[in-house]
Amino acid sequence: MPSTPSDSASADVPDSSRTAGYVLRPVRETDAPAVLAAFSSAPDMARQGAVVDEDGARRLIGWLRDDSARSVAIADPDGVLVGVVGVRVDAVERTGWVHYWVHASHRGRGLTSRAVATVCDEQLAPAGGALERLELGHRVDNPASGGVARAAGFVLEGREREKFLVDGTRVDVLTYGRLPGDPWPRIAHLPRTVP
Ligand SMILES: CC(C)(COP(=O)(O)OP(=O)(O)OC[C@H]1O[C@@H](n2cnc3c(N)ncnc32)[C@H](O)[C@@H]1OP(=O)(O)O)[C@@H](O)C(=O)NCCC(=O)NCCS
Repeated sequence: MPSTPSDSASADVPDSSRTAGYVLRPVRETDAPAVLAAFSSAPDMARQGAVVDEDGARRLIGWLRDDSARSVAIADPDGVLVGVVGVRVDAVERTGWVHYWVHASHRGRGLTSRAVATVCDEQLAPAGGALERLELGHRVDNPASGGVARAAGFVLEGREREKFLVDGTRVDVLTYGRLPGDPWPRIAHLPRTVP
């Protein structure tokens, strides 16, 4: 018998103090400088979108704010956007493709794991997004993304061989899925601010 969204929301992890003060909130049009700062923070952000200036950041924000994207910002204790969790919804199939990124200075403290678990729990909850399947994929040379996926309750489903061409080398992608009947992650949710 899988645990439930409410079980998950009341769960906690020993190191959640490392993310004290961080919240989830809507992505705002005024977030462009923060989005650009995140994309400038590490080379591995290059494949998350074409953001090399504030115009590019504004275009990405427009895409993230689109209804079917259901994206939320991860904000630091000062309210500054430091990351994003997005769910691109296929309304016909009632599924969602999950993506996420966070500024390099805010990594390694369990922040993205908490944010993705929170958003995905909400999207699968009958009284929330009511989606029936969530999916994601990551390159095999991106183990941190796999850690986020597993911490957020995703199950490894497969391997797409040589899917991407990265700097002249073909790289495999690991694919994950999460269903409402899978065990819900035992990880503390990030709080949400009002819009
Ligand atoms: C992937 C990414 C979102 C992880 O963010 P994060 O906030 O550092 O993630 P967390 O702190 O929640 O850590 C997640 C897991 O990865 C592990 N991890 C973190 N950095 C790692 C690294 N460099 N190598 C291996 N494992 C790592 C953590 O230990 C944790 O595993 P655990 O739950 O078993 O302890 C971040 O590195 C990022 O934004 N990368 C660029 C964009 C990207 O790759 N997005 C995903 C596309 S599929």
